[in-house]
Amino acid sequence: MIDSLKTKYWTVDKSLDNLERHPAIIEAANIIKRNDVIAFPTETVYGLGGNALSDEALAKIFHAKGRPSDNPLIIHIATCSQLGAVVDAIPETAKKLMTAFWPGPLTIVLAKGIGMSDKVTAGLPTIAVRMPDDPIALALIKAANVPIAAPSANRSGKPSPTDATHVRLDLDGKISGIIDGGMTNIGVESTVIECQSNTVTILRPGGITKSQLAKVIPHVSEDAYFITKDHVPKSPGMKYTHYSPKAPIILVSGDAQSIQKIVNEEKQAGNRVGVLTTKENVDSYVADVILACGERQHLSTVGAELYATLRQFDLHEVDLIVSESFPKVGIGEAIMNRLEKAASTHL
Ligand code: TXA
Ligand code: MG
Repeated sequence: MIDSLKTKYWTVDKSLDNLERHPAIIEAANIIKRNDVIAFPTETVYGLGGNALSDEALAKIFHAKGRPSDNPLIIHIATCSQLGAVVDAIPETAKKLMTAFWPGPLTIVLAKGIGMSDKVTAGLPTIAVRMPDDPIALALIKAANVPIAAPSANRSGKPSPTDATHVRLDLDGKISGIIDGGMTNIGVESTVIECQSNTVTILRPGGITKSQLAKVIPHVSEDAYFITKDHVPKSPGMKYTHYSPKAPIILVSGDAQSIQKIVNEEKQAGNRVGVLTTKENVDSYVADVILACGERQHLSTVGAELYATLRQFDLHEVDLIVSESFPKVGIGEAIMNRLEKAASTHL
């Protein structure tokens, strides 16, 4: 497989009308049609997209990311008419959720359609599907006229990209193109769920919160994996170390004083120490690098800036990052899930 591609770069203003006919979108869609892969924005994070019906395209996605082949991909669609080819059947519970949350950051795991490749599902009998809420993503899927398989457009193990420059850093020369549509809004990935009759199980917390789901389907639970880590996670991606900047993260649940104490100890040990905090608390610390990630009062801003902040620590070349914790409510559940997975130590 080719490892030094010339990666095309397009900047597209997502507020334009008729994006499906935008020359950059047409060019990118043609690349998808010839089974090559490109990165594009969604409302959550940038995706690395390829024709979901082509084993050749799927192999290129796994190769470019360095992704383990047992971690299945999410299929992105632009209209519900595309579902017929992707899934086998749509239970009533799923229909209600699609009506309520699509387009949007909700991925639904359903029985796999017979025509879909085992490469997409990593051999599972189920397939994950979502309709992204981003005009560029929707225009690209429509112009390509195929469902698009897309994991987050980062090298495996790195924080997901929330800006086209992150994609460039990870995948330049490894993919055919990058559509730059600016910073993504939500910043953490979609919520992955499974549904049974009248119940929903969250396999990965994300952009749609538990309480939002509960307004549509009253019984919402979490995969047993989140309760005792002895269980194998139903979302295979959850078992990998993810979202990690270069430096190890110490995730602390105490107040600013107890965080500062850890910073002092690490500095005494000769380490260059970074602190991940929020705008409200930047003046509470003395450390080598202090980065504010959104506002604690508005957790959605922490979600939006989390991955970019983790990547910024790489540029500052810190030896370790001491991070504040966040309440596990609303989008805070997804934020803490990602921080806990990124962290090497929890105090
Ligand atoms: O917001 C998002 O979901 C982004 C954007 C690009 O759409 N995509 C994304 O994809 O985060 P990825 O590949 O990084 O994560 C997909 C997650 C993984 O945890 C994977 O294991 C899970 O979805 N998944 C995929 N198919 C599944 C299935 N059939 N059953 C259970 N989990 C599945
Ligand atoms: Mg990912």
